[in-house]
Amino acid sequence: MEQKRSSFTGKIGFVLAAAGSAVGLGNIWRFPYLAAKYGGGIFLLVYILLSVTFGFSLMVAEIAIGRKTGLSAIGAYEKLNKKYAFVGYLGAIIPALILPYYSVIGGWVTKYLTLYATGGGSAAASPDYFGGFISSTWEPIGWFLLFIGATALIVLFGVEKGVEKVSKIMMPVLVVLSIFIAVYVCCMPGAGAGLAYYLIPNFENFSIMTVVAAMGQLFYSMSLAMGIMITYGSYMKKEVSIESSVHQIEIFDTGIAFLAGLMVIPAVFASTGAAPEAPGAGLMFQVLPTVFENMWGGHIIGAIFFLLVLLAALTSSISLMETVVSILQDKLRWNRRLTCLVVFAACLLLGLPSTLGYGVWANVKVIGMQFLDLFDFISNSVLMPIAAFFTAILVGYVIKPQSVIDEVELSGKFRFKKLFVVMIKYVAPVCMIIILLSSVLSAFNVIKI
Ligand code: PFF
Repeated sequence: MEQKRSSFTGKIGFVLAAAGSAVGLGNIWRFPYLAAKYGGGIFLLVYILLSVTFGFSLMVAEIAIGRKTGLSAIGAYEKLNKKYAFVGYLGAIIPALILPYYSVIGGWVTKYLTLYATGGGSAAASPDYFGGFISSTWEPIGWFLLFIGATALIVLFGVEKGVEKVSKIMMPVLVVLSIFIAVYVCCMPGAGAGLAYYLIPNFENFSIMTVVAAMGQLFYSMSLAMGIMITYGSYMKKEVSIESSVHQIEIFDTGIAFLAGLMVIPAVFASTGAAPEAPGAGLMFQVLPTVFENMWGGHIIGAIFFLLVLLAALTSSISLMETVVSILQDKLRWNRRLTCLVVFAACLLLGLPSTLGYGVWANVKVIGMQFLDLFDFISNSVLMPIAAFFTAILVGYVIKPQSVIDEVELSGKFRFKKLFVVMIKYVAPVCMIIILLSSVLSAFNVIKI
């Protein structure tokens, strides 16, 4: 049931839309705490290396598949090869698993924005504030509801374009503000050690988990291995260059993640004098308020910052929900209102354990993880490597890299063609198997890494 597809007006339209999906909480909230947890500079180095090789190749492949078939993920895989249709379905499950807990974090951001906007910023800077907030039962649920409700309403009324327009103006402001905050943080007394930890790779901190975490983060941050970029590709015009668009999206996405790390990690060192102990999902919320507290005009800057993060989060959550809604609509032929309602209700149910996992269900652990980490683990460390593995096999050995190369070359020379072929045919499949095995075996404590 493919209607005539509308297309992005040009390259800039495509890049901004894809960047709107890619840049979100993954960059600002998730990247810094993973970098702090998995070795600082060595994580950053591995991440950047993976981004320009593996991330680049997979993104080119996905966009080309979308543009070549003119279909979104499920239809596209089916059209290329019937046996691989399951990869499309697998990809479709991933956004459905991410959206609920993404909205829990989106709720935290909304809470912090409100706090700063109503003059309560100082409270957020006290050391127990964040812990008290997330471990309470009802308040985080309320903010979660607000965030997921707003996302559902925007998707229901189809007003994404309006939000995206606003966020396109906000995106450059976010970059400028992040640079400003990062420079301020790096000048704080004691920040130097943090800067060194974040920027200088220390090979002693390297483990296979550094690679596993960096790879999961790469998928997450660039919206890869879940069919999203296939859908975006299906709207892309033939004369727009896939290769240079991918470079631009990557620079945007990795640049914002890098800046977020630069804001958060040195700030931890400046306030505690050492690397964060067991950094987790709360890192950004615990650290940045202490920075804003001491900064001139910090409360206003805090409010603007959380507003920008909220907008970035919304453009991403909209793209997650839109994907789930449109797949269900296509497959089940429900109307849009019913589909939105069902997806909203399902997200509520799936998101509740993630928020309660910080409070009344804090003792409930599944394979040693609380619910939010569990959802994060299943999608990023298990399902995405599987989807990426089969995408690489499909492109590398079934439809052959040449078909992607032909699609890319419709708009000019493919400069990194050789890199692409080697990555897709050899490196990606092997890496995916290693990553999948190590993450699963370590989660079940079979191996210690
Ligand atoms: N890439 C987004 C982020 O980094 O926050 C998360 C995301 C959005 C993943 C949309 C997948 C997606 F479809």
